[in-house]
Amino acid sequence: MDQNSELYKDLDRILLTREEIAAKVKELGQRITRDYEGKNPVLVCILKGASVFFADLIREIDLPLTLDFMAISSYGSATKTSGVVRILKDLDNDILGKDVIVVEDIVDSGITLSYLSKTLMQRGAKSLRIATLLDKPARRKVTDLKVDYMCFDIPDAFVVGYGLDYDQVYRNLPDIGVLSPRIYGNQ
Ligand code: IMP
Ligand code: MG
Repeated sequence: MDQNSELYKDLDRILLTREEIAAKVKELGQRITRDYEGKNPVLVCILKGASVFFADLIREIDLPLTLDFMAISSYGSATKTSGVVRILKDLDNDILGKDVIVVEDIVDSGITLSYLSKTLMQRGAKSLRIATLLDKPARRKVTDLKVDYMCFDIPDAFVVGYGLDYDQVYRNLPDIGVLSPRIYGNQ
């Protein structure tokens, strides 16, 4: 999809291009490959936002890894976190004794991942690391969250594309952009 297409008209600006994203994702894949040498990590995709990042990242990791998927919700359809975390879809497989890497689209307040990390460690994971495409450190509300791998630090703006949505739309944009406030208007 090119940047003249209809969906792009709802953006104020492009924040990260597909080329910038691809370069960082490749770098991260290589780093994880080195860090997990000799291991068989389980990569956990947090649906739906991380799905695009996940698909690209796993193909840059040269290890005998396995995949699993989880859906959690802390948002509803608004642009501000509700603070309530729900598991909508749980993992298919046991993670007891496994090296787990949780792959998330963005860490905002950190509430979702803080809850999730605790839950997965309680299930007996051998190790647990977090890989996120984006980080908005200015909005962090929890202090006990360690983000192990991160591609981009971004300012406090609502972004969409490359898996990230507003009200379930814009996930298929190949680039990441700042959504125009006129779209979410008076929330
Ligand atoms: P947290 O629990 O506040 O860290 O929320 C993380 C979740 O909020 C992410 O997985 C996203 O689904 C959503 N989110 C936070 N900021 C944005 C944004 O700028 N665009 C789209 N989704 C966002
Ligand atoms: Mg998400």
